[in-house]
Amino acid sequence: MTTTLTLRRPDDWHLHLRDGAMLEGVLPESARHFARAIIMPNLVPPVVTARDAAAYRDRILAALPAGMDFTPLMTLYLTEETDPADVAAAHAAGLVTAVKLYPAGATTNSASGVRDFDKVQGVLDRMAEIGLPLCVHGEVTDAEIDIFDREAVFIDRVLDPIRRATPGLRVVMEHITTRDGIDYVRQGGPDIGGTITTHHLVINRNHILVGGIKPHYYCLPVAKREEHRLALRAAATSGEASFFLGTDSAPHPDDAKESACGCAGCFTATNTLSILARVFEEEGALDRLEAFASLNGPAFYRLPPNDGTITLEKDAAPVAYPARIETGAGPVTVFDPGMPLHWRVRP
Ligand code: NCD
Ligand code: ZN
Repeated sequence: MTTTLTLRRPDDWHLHLRDGAMLEGVLPESARHFARAIIMPNLVPPVVTARDAAAYRDRILAALPAGMDFTPLMTLYLTEETDPADVAAAHAAGLVTAVKLYPAGATTNSASGVRDFDKVQGVLDRMAEIGLPLCVHGEVTDAEIDIFDREAVFIDRVLDPIRRATPGLRVVMEHITTRDGIDYVRQGGPDIGGTITTHHLVINRNHILVGGIKPHYYCLPVAKREEHRLALRAAATSGEASFFLGTDSAPHPDDAKESACGCAGCFTATNTLSILARVFEEEGALDRLEAFASLNGPAFYRLPPNDGTITLEKDAAPVAYPARIETGAGPVTVFDPGMPLHWRVRP
């Protein structure tokens, strides 16, 4: 017998689509299931101005295969030179849905990010006034801070001071990987939300390092101890309005991952919904998958949920996913959850 589960069509509140041949290769993987996604601006060079965002949106729409229904929600990459008036105009024109803060050096293509947070206070004040959310990569970059502590230290040293200095600023703490992040978002009131990735619900740091180094499990923020993974699972499956799906699906060609200095990023667009259904089922929370994947995100962003639906079907036979997606920029390995998946999205 087949069990089915119908949800409002989901959205992805944190997605890397890249550009050019990679964009063409990976876009259908997201557009097949997701109606909208917050598109990360960390291209080379980054998407900094309203003009850049408009041009990137056009390239995404041009790469979308005919018949697929997908809306990219654009973001601007915050730099110390960002002009508050340009941001406000892009927001007023409906061109951008959020601004992204990368601490300089925190992750892939973050060199143009922020070093001195005082220099962006004018932009943040303007965003608070107009209600434009700030998406935050929450890791400090100080060399002396252990990589596994960088998220927790960021909350104390950067995120909380920014929020205190900017009353009314709406913030998304992205790809939360720690209990500290969950607790901070949970007690932070309606102006803060948090995204959780698919892979951080499945792997802890042992998966990356035990029995040989697994480059396809390496991403930033890096997966933490098991106790943190369990806190993420509890939050994601709780139904609480503050937590929603941001896959952080981040494609890199295999040769850039399987290297002496491998890039950070897990590519989960292809099988995210099958993995989430399994995780939520294991937690006895299938009835809360729709809140996490389809309802809480739009509510935070003050957008309507999608009209359409998707149906997941559970079969005795596992779903077969390709091990990698072939793109014009090279093969991209699909995240391996290390367990059979039985829920498939009905085509
Ligand atoms: C992202 C990427 O590759 O652009 N990598 C990652 O590990 N998540 C950047 C990011 O979101 O940190
Ligand atoms: Zn990301």
